[in-house]
Amino acid sequence: MRPRILPVLTLGLLASPISGISNTHSDNQRPLVLPAPLLTNSESALDRYDGEQVWRVNWEDVEDRDKREFMSRLESLNLDIWQTTSSTLDLRLPSSHLDHLHSLLPPSASAQIHILNLQQLVDATRPDSAKPDKDWNLDSLNSTFHSAYHKLTELETFGMKLVERFEFLDKIEIGKSWERRSIWGYRVRKDTSDSKSSDEGGGGGEKQEEEEDKVEIVIQSGQHAREWIGPSVALYFLHSLAIGSEDPESVVTQLLESFTFTVVPTINPDGYVWSHETSRMWKKNRQDVGGKRNCKGIDLNSNWGYHWRPPHSPNPCSETFPGNHAFEAPEPAAMARYISNGSSDGLSGGEAVRSFVDLHSYGQLFMFPFAYSCSTFPPDAEMLMEAALGVSKAMRTTSGEKYQAGQACSMTFRAPGDSIDYVYGVTDVRWTYSAELRDTGTYGFMLPPDLIRPTAEELTSGLIFLAKFIYKSEIER
Ligand SMILES: *[C@@H]1O[C@H](CO)[C@@H](O)[C@H](O)[C@H]1NC(C)=O
Ligand SMILES: *[C@@H]1O[C@H](CO)[C@@H](O)[C@H](O)[C@H]1NC(C)=O
Ligand SMILES: [Zn+2]
Repeated sequence: MRPRILPVLTLGLLASPISGISNTHSDNQRPLVLPAPLLTNSESALDRYDGEQVWRVNWEDVEDRDKREFMSRLESLNLDIWQTTSSTLDLRLPSSHLDHLHSLLPPSASAQIHILNLQQLVDATRPDSAKPDKDWNLDSLNSTFHSAYHKLTELETFGMKLVERFEFLDKIEIGKSWERRSIWGYRVRKDTSDSKSSDEGGGGGEKQEEEEDKVEIVIQSGQHAREWIGPSVALYFLHSLAIGSEDPESVVTQLLESFTFTVVPTINPDGYVWSHETSRMWKKNRQDVGGKRNCKGIDLNSNWGYHWRPPHSPNPCSETFPGNHAFEAPEPAAMARYISNGSSDGLSGGEAVRSFVDLHSYGQLFMFPFAYSCSTFPPDAEMLMEAALGVSKAMRTTSGEKYQAGQACSMTFRAPGDSIDYVYGVTDVRWTYSAELRDTGTYGFMLPPDLIRPTAEELTSGLIFLAKFIYKSEIER
């Protein structure tokens, strides 16, 4: 059994003993709260989180307006908000700042400690770089690749090996990151234009001749660097498609008659590398944004160009800094270009894309647009909800884990500039979702490696369900 969340304690009870713990700052340890001064010579050292905790604020009874105000106060203090739902807010805190939280808390909110020792969880999820294993079994989903987290180079090696091994896989460069790394997309598609499938469709003969007419489903992950489960699960899904594509009896083979799947596991490669090599809690990209204090990075999932709003008081040191203008970050701009205008080889992207799923963690949610506002309901809301409920059910049936379905704005308190808002609102991709993967907060971003596989299995079931749902709603008829 895993240790569960600690019992509820009010802040008042805990504040004094905890804040008494000394919090020694070594040179490479970044004090959390106040804007960091120039961080020199921390380039190669790993940040430590000794004495830091995660607290869960219960704000169910707080008015929405007060929730937003509370959040912006936390952000102005450079506190790191991990997750928000309609009833809770999770917050990372150095022990020396517990008193501070107490004074900030809205009157009807309470808080309890959620993760007692953050550094311990950070240590438990670190990839074992002492013995990197490159001899992964590619022929089975039981491959050891899916039992650990990996550095970016290993993710890319695995992707490359899949492309070499499987006939129906190829890779394309979606674009370049701020630090000029390639953002890779892996496509699974079958050219069925020569397979005269006369037994198909029951005598309509309406089958399109051109493979470009296939419907494309795009899976993106890794906007937020520290959410390591996303890229892991995306590559598992890709692997399961690859294996399925070789089995003539599989559901995947059936789906590939009508669909192309494109998986982009690490849309934010620079941030991912930073979260491995320097700061495990890093969320943004690594862009220079002209802040006075030399803070870097844009929150990619606040930088997409639909109802994007400049922040009230721009603070590049905040983990939620949305940029100085929409699409200032090259990574979402590259993805938006792919979805709007297609790939440079003209074989995918653009009009073909009819579904987009953006993977995040954590919270176990499957959400449709919009995130920026609850008063704007997408015209397709009913169908989107129906499919989302089916996805959640497929996931639950696989593993027993419960995922909630609904509209993003009411399930989370996200900023405008979200990817799904842009993809649905501007590029008109109907089946657009954002998923928050496991867990519900016990480990948060530090989900233990042995939970990668079960999380990946349930998401794979969910996405296959979604593809079948799209097939029934749009293609079969
Ligand atoms: C998966 O691998 C593990 C360890 O390598 C092994 O014990 C197990 O039997 C394998 N399961 C399947 C279904 O192949
Ligand atoms: C798509 O191409 C058009 C024409 O070149 C361009 O104006 C537009 O900005 C592109 N869209 C994106 C999202 O890059
Ligand atoms: Zn995220």
